[in-house]
Amino acid sequence: MQMLTFVMPDGTQRTIRAAAGLNVLYAAALHDVPHLCGECAGEGVCGSCQVLVEAATGWTPPERSPEEELALGIGRNPDRGERRLACMLAAPSGAALRMRIPPLDEAGRTR
Ligand code: FES
Repeated sequence: MQMLTFVMPDGTQRTIRAAAGLNVLYAAALHDVPHLCGECAGEGVCGSCQVLVEAATGWTPPERSPEEELALGIGRNPDRGERRLACMLAAPSGAALRMRIPPLDEAGRTR
């Protein structure tokens, strides 16, 4: 199992346990975590599932791929250095991630 803590845009927190290797977006959806959407259904192209990884224990997230950086708009917004696509993050057993979900307008989501 992996332990995933989400800090909502209003500062409230929610922690869930998910199967190892399950991507963060899918795990959040299975547990009805609000404020995190995936407009491209986890294809890694829309950038709507952005999270800011605040802490990771038991695992180091891999470097972002060029495709992930494109979806995040890193070239246009260099201040997004800590952002990741939730659909591209999948932690192994025993890992714990703490992530902040940015506000809608900050993440560029359309809903
Ligand atoms: S759901 Fe579209 S990039 Fe993650």
